Amino acid sequence: MINFKTIKVNLNERSYPILIGENLESILLKYLKKIGSYSKVIVVTDKVVNKKIPFFFKVFRNLSNMKIIKVILPPGEKTKSFANLQNLCEKILKAKIDRNAIIICFGGGVIGDIVGLTANLLLRGIDFIQVPTTLLAQVDSSVGGKTAINSKYGKNLIGTFNQPKAVLISTDTLQTLDKRQVIAGYAEILKYAFIYDKSFFNFLKKNGKRIIRLKPKETIESIEKSCRIKANIVSKDEYEKGVREILNFGHTFGHAIESFTGFSEKILHGEAVIIGMHFALKFSKFLGLCSNHLIDDFTDHLKDLKIPHNLEDYEIKMSYTDFIKHIKFDKKIKNSYLKFILLKDFARPIGYILKNEKVLEDFLKQNLTKD
Ligand SMILES: NC(=O)c1ccc[n+]([C@@H]2O[C@H](COP(=O)([O-])OP(=O)(O)OC[C@H]3O[C@@H](n4cnc5c(N)ncnc54)[C@H](O)[C@@H]3O)[C@@H](O)[C@H]2O)c1
Repeated sequence: MINFKTIKVNLNERSYPILIGENLESILLKYLKKIGSYSKVIVVTDKVVNKKIPFFFKVFRNLSNMKIIKVILPPGEKTKSFANLQNLCEKILKAKIDRNAIIICFGGGVIGDIVGLTANLLLRGIDFIQVPTTLLAQVDSSVGGKTAINSKYGKNLIGTFNQPKAVLISTDTLQTLDKRQVIAGYAEILKYAFIYDKSFFNFLKKNGKRIIRLKPKETIESIEKSCRIKANIVSKDEYEKGVREILNFGHTFGHAIESFTGFSEKILHGEAVIIGMHFALKFSKFLGLCSNHLIDDFTDHLKDLKIPHNLEDYEIKMSYTDFIKHIKFDKKIKNSYLKFILLKDFARPIGYILKNEKVLEDFLKQNLTKD
């Protein structure tokens, strides 16, 4: 008996399943009949994933006699560019696809974001499925249909909403992931617990160590919980006009840190989100929205897991003026006011619109080095 979990993202005619298990072969097998009805199958991956997880192609060949058109992109955030988008579109068009072709996106969030956009643009839209291979992509970016490339004016500014036909998640693809990338994924898992479900936080307190060691049972459970929460939120607000914005908890501060460090390897997105959540909790306390207990719950848990959660842990020195400048660069500015997702308590997020910038300045002055 093959054991895996299925979650449905409810979006009427755009609904789709998320399959989660520990064996890629059994998950692909389950979905292969559907793939078989397409005229052409294009698999897009990156160079690292192609090298580290060759068994995907072996499994696919063993299970199906369909010919795969394989496109390999360079790894890393810089891949989300116009040049790569053009290159990818043209490589796929060269294979003479029709509208009944499907793209399988095999990789982390970078590949997921650019492939989702490509699928939306080619022939005015062809189907795609996500087979995410980082913990971050499995719990976050592969679900919800946000696609994007970056602009010199900021990250993820050019994109669409385009839901996949399915998300196929297997934890055996994570085994080659390095520790930093696992922690980056754990950041988003922890985010769900704080914004949505205290009992999930209790589960993480008990099982966090096993999750960051990628023990299948606990990892699958945490992925399932995270995907259920994200699917729930996305089902209520597909286009981020309301409740979906709570998923940005920690991200406004986090993006400022990523932007300051030039979106480099110095700090990964998820690592910046951990520090960003720490800032968001401290800002919540500064505004009298939450008690110290909430911050202690956060920091005690991260100390227990030995996960860095301060700027100094990454030897990043930002002044408050740097911070404000880079926060403003972030796109989540509503009617020219900055907006932060803050917490009153577990599962009690609020959207805080900053009408008086001095408040942020005072907070940052207290929490950062001077100019
Ligand atoms: N669309 C969304 O809703 C959404 C949500 C969150 C993040 N994102 C985007 O996701 C991106 C970050 O995703 P990411 O952290 O997965 O980054 P990534 O795709 O760059 O992957 C990180 C690194 O790990 C490598 N890798 C991937 N799978 C591997 C594996 N199994 N073993 C070994 N190495 C592996 C990749 O080659 C890459 O070098 C950002 O661009 C961010 O903007 C999108």
